[in-house]
Amino acid sequence: MKFLIIGNGGREHAIGKKLLEDDPFVKIYFYPGNGGTDLIGNNVKKYSSILELVVFVKKNKIDITIVGSEIFLMQKIVDIFHHYKLKIIGPHYLAAKLEGDRIFSKSFMNKYGIRTPKHQIFHNYHEAVKFLEDNNDSFAIKTNGIAYGKGVILTHNKKETKEALKMIMVKKKFGKSGDKVIIEEFLNGKEVSIISFFDGKNIIPFLSSKDYKKIGDNDIGLNTGGMGCIAPNPHMNHSIWMDFKKNILIPTLEGLILEKLNFFGFLYFGLMITSNKIYLLEYNTRFGDPEAQTLLPLLMKNNFLHMIKSPFQGKTVHLHWKNYCSCCIVISSKGYPEKYDIGKKIMGIEKLKEPFFISGARREKNTWYTTSGRVLNILGIGNSIQEARYLAYQKIKQIQFENYYFRKDIGL
Ligand code: GLY
Repeated sequence: MKFLIIGNGGREHAIGKKLLEDDPFVKIYFYPGNGGTDLIGNNVKKYSSILELVVFVKKNKIDITIVGSEIFLMQKIVDIFHHYKLKIIGPHYLAAKLEGDRIFSKSFMNKYGIRTPKHQIFHNYHEAVKFLEDNNDSFAIKTNGIAYGKGVILTHNKKETKEALKMIMVKKKFGKSGDKVIIEEFLNGKEVSIISFFDGKNIIPFLSSKDYKKIGDNDIGLNTGGMGCIAPNPHMNHSIWMDFKKNILIPTLEGLILEKLNFFGFLYFGLMITSNKIYLLEYNTRFGDPEAQTLLPLLMKNNFLHMIKSPFQGKTVHLHWKNYCSCCIVISSKGYPEKYDIGKKIMGIEKLKEPFFISGARREKNTWYTTSGRVLNILGIGNSIQEARYLAYQKIKQIQFENYYFRKDIGL
């Protein structure tokens, strides 16, 4: 079989490695890919339009395309592929709005009784500031459009909230994404991510995980795409799973079917547990990064390949997970998620034991160089989170490059 994986990060490298583990004879293309994906498949040159990619897929007889990165979703890649009767894993544009348009997403949650924190929507800065007049609470200020993991600002009082609103709605730090905002009740609790696979009829949840979004230890500093991840999430017990299914997963499935938002692909629930209740903060309509890198090594052989093929065969799969824990640490370039240098020589990749994934590096004449903010994902797999964490941090010692940075508290 032939696959095309869309994206250029560690998530796409992890998806490719998993497909090859399940069947070493599959042929994988990556668009555009990175130095890691180039070692296990073929990186496809950049095209100026999705139509050119369609021509590539037809010419090379690709069986299934898997969309990793959200950037392509908002460019309607899935709708275009469907138009040309090509098989693709990912949400069509309307379903992708569950991630790409937060106001659309909140209306969907409200309509189907999906438990989410209280929130208000604002179309201009003055309205939003007026709402704050008698309000000194903590909030999550969210841009309506996606801002690549950076469009949520947590505030602790009126002054901070006003500053955040000004930055988003007046100074336009996130461009048009911040034309409208949601001011959401701040929930103090334990964050959980549950990724699932939607085969058009059923939502199949994966193991729970915990993403470390902030750049600094103890969750200090700016939001990033993710600086580490552990699975399973120690805060998910049986009763919280039941609560999740009843108040979030089942009404989501009902809404997706009634609104004709069915698709074949990943659906990510970003959640918060507080006072023994679970709340949905947001959906992402894709596999998370670094959640993919953290979860896929725990999935039993052949499950992933079967899952990817299942919707096209009208089947629903049951996933089986290894009885281990996983800890993923992201090594980044110092300065990320703001300004950072690239082109730094990386030492130690050749000696790394699996699993590990390349996020942003290229290889030239057997030497590796950094190409982006997030560079490498180092994994530890163990009998407990502590063991997995220990193994991951041991492995990191082998890696060196100028101005590298990683959080020291993943899995603590
Ligand atoms: N790690 C969070 C995300 O993929 O958006």
